[in-house]
Amino acid sequence: MNLYFNKEDIEKLDKRFKVNLMNSLSGYKSANLIGSINSKGNTNLAIFSSVIHLGSDPALMGFIQRPTSVPRDTYNNIQENGCFTINQVHKNIVGKAHYTSVRFEEDESEFQALQLQEEYLQDFIAPFVKESFVKIGLQFEGEHLLSNGCRLIIGKIIHINLDKTVIKKDGSLQLEAVDTIAVSGLDQYYLGNFQKRYPYAKRHDIKQQLKMPKKERPDNVVYDEETKKYDAALKKYGTSVGAPLIEFEDLGNWKRMGSQKVNHHLETRYLKIKEQYQEVLELYTWNQRVYNSKFNFEPLTGSIYHLYQKENGEEFLSQIPPEDWKKTHVGSFKLDLDRVFIKVDDSEFE
Ligand SMILES: Cc1cc2nc3c(=O)[nH]c(=O)nc-3n(C[C@H](O)[C@H](O)[C@H](O)COP(=O)(O)O)c2cc1C
Repeated sequence: MNLYFNKEDIEKLDKRFKVNLMNSLSGYKSANLIGSINSKGNTNLAIFSSVIHLGSDPALMGFIQRPTSVPRDTYNNIQENGCFTINQVHKNIVGKAHYTSVRFEEDESEFQALQLQEEYLQDFIAPFVKESFVKIGLQFEGEHLLSNGCRLIIGKIIHINLDKTVIKKDGSLQLEAVDTIAVSGLDQYYLGNFQKRYPYAKRHDIKQQLKMPKKERPDNVVYDEETKKYDAALKKYGTSVGAPLIEFEDLGNWKRMGSQKVNHHLETRYLKIKEQYQEVLELYTWNQRVYNSKFNFEPLTGSIYHLYQKENGEEFLSQIPPEDWKKTHVGSFKLDLDRVFIKVDDSEFE
């Protein structure tokens, strides 16, 4: 059942309802704290959900500033000092971040009011949020006034300060590792849930993708990319089932709200278990590979071993690290007390 609004309906919507709807329509958005400072040295911090990537080279980011019909500290400070910081919001600071949207006086610092710590990098004068795991320092590049009075503010990235756990070897960020928050509307915060990483999209891969609409197949069908077979029956472990869903047809308001809540709650729990299941499955797969590889020594608990692949596809385990020779490195592992090989990052054995 769909709910449809035409142009006239939209114009007639109740004001609050309309604001909530319009603010939610663009889906999940990033939640960032923008830090700035005025020429008197007063710091400022405010939450923004309109931060966007504008380009990688030159490295530009932007955000939408609401109309300046009332004093806007972030905007004024950027005008005065030409710089600002963008700090990603995560699970542990989301409440504080939300309340930075309170209208504070120009000389009141949200850092102090919300007990968030200021952090400074070299001679860059705008404050970073110490607690954030992804912090960016930007130099003001320009602004564009939009027809509705909002402004697109553009900044050039000149500092990036990341928690080590968040960055992958290829430069992309694994935001779920630091519980980065997403926001819908102006008051609903979400934790991201990693689904899948796709290769760079090429036209000739579309056919293959359409042949295997994996998302549409039930979860308990397991497709093996290498053998190109659905092999749930061959797995030694159970394969998962879909999230439970209480469906409802014509219920009263109370029941509808209840059904939505319970579905949300059960889905969240289900997704958590699914995530754990996927972790175990990954561990299982790696261990199967390592245990099936060639090695003629007895691995020791706590030691790091490296898995390599020969040209004929055969795999072998060695203690020689990948930088010491030119072999195809598959992965590195630490043997734990339960004789399980735990995958480790390069940085852990360097
Ligand atoms: C979740 C959320 C997202 C927001 N996103 C924006 C935004 O993208 N642009 C904006 O101008 N204000 C946004 N606001 C409102 C500002 O946070 C608010 O106006 C704040 O008081 C601005 O502070 P300042 O005057 O210190 O700059 C948002 C508020 C919330 C709660």
